[in-house]
Amino acid sequence: MSHSVKAVSTVRDLRHVTADWRSAGKTIALVPTMGALHSGHVSLVRQAKDRADKVVVSIFVNPTQFAPHEDLARYPRDEAGDHAKLTAAEADLVWSPSVEEMYPASFSTGIKAGSAAADLEGAFRPHHFDGVATVCAKLFNQVTPDVAIFGEKDYQQLAVLRQLVDDLNMPLKLIAAPTVRETDGLALSSRNAYLSEKERAIAPALYATITDAAEKIAIGTPFSVVTTDATARLVKAGFTKVDYIDIRDASTLSASVSPGKPLRILAAAWLGKTRLIDNVAAGSPS
Ligand code: PAJ
Repeated sequence: MSHSVKAVSTVRDLRHVTADWRSAGKTIALVPTMGALHSGHVSLVRQAKDRADKVVVSIFVNPTQFAPHEDLARYPRDEAGDHAKLTAAEADLVWSPSVEEMYPASFSTGIKAGSAAADLEGAFRPHHFDGVATVCAKLFNQVTPDVAIFGEKDYQQLAVLRQLVDDLNMPLKLIAAPTVRETDGLALSSRNAYLSEKERAIAPALYATITDAAEKIAIGTPFSVVTTDATARLVKAGFTKVDYIDIRDASTLSASVSPGKPLRILAAAWLGKTRLIDNVAAGSPS
């Protein structure tokens, strides 16, 4: 008999399930998502299964992390596809609250994201990480996971959430999962669905450019040359605007880097109305 993953949409129902698991001594992993799931999300579910007895996948398109001019209304949704993928991936529970369940009319508390949110994405999306931190704090309190899995695709998000968990002594461990890519290098993203055929053909240039930048850093090319060249290459490839290409300390995201420490190249660029982000590791020149 085909059997679909169980889904709950109220905190009350969620707590019934997690309380049963806890009394049976089970550990819990949480994979927070906004749905429209792809193989990148599914890879997080696989990692979660290795880390805990039970896996909860939350699906919630969080309005507080979108600015008024952003794509909240057109953000892709695919409830049936998501459930089929999570059933196939053998997740144990889908937690998909309504906006009213997550943010009742009385809701008024929020988290201000820490210093990791200050620039890069934070400069272009000023309240984005406050919204991410607030909803993740709520998700952590709702699900009470032992571990939560996040993708390196959103590298700065991971840094912001590590700060959240450390600063507020939240009793869970965050796990970083590598970025899953198309065969041409484009990082899987729910927003790739927005790309026209022509834009989709240009999109892999983002990964190619930052990978190439990492190689240039490894041979000692000055950072300013690397970022200027990379920006020019993206524009030449057909990106309509480059928000940033930056070389940072891989763990603090600080712009001041010291020799020998791992680096991260982070980039955000537009193809028409679609904004793509990506990042790769880079070795420090010796
Ligand atoms: P969403 O964009 O749906 O991503 C959910 C999780 O999947 C994040 O941890 C993200 O980094 C990861 N992910 C996305 N694309 C990936 C890829 N190609 N490879 C590996 N992992 C990938 O990030 C969010 O949702 C939200 O901000 C959220 C944390 C759920 C809070 O609302």
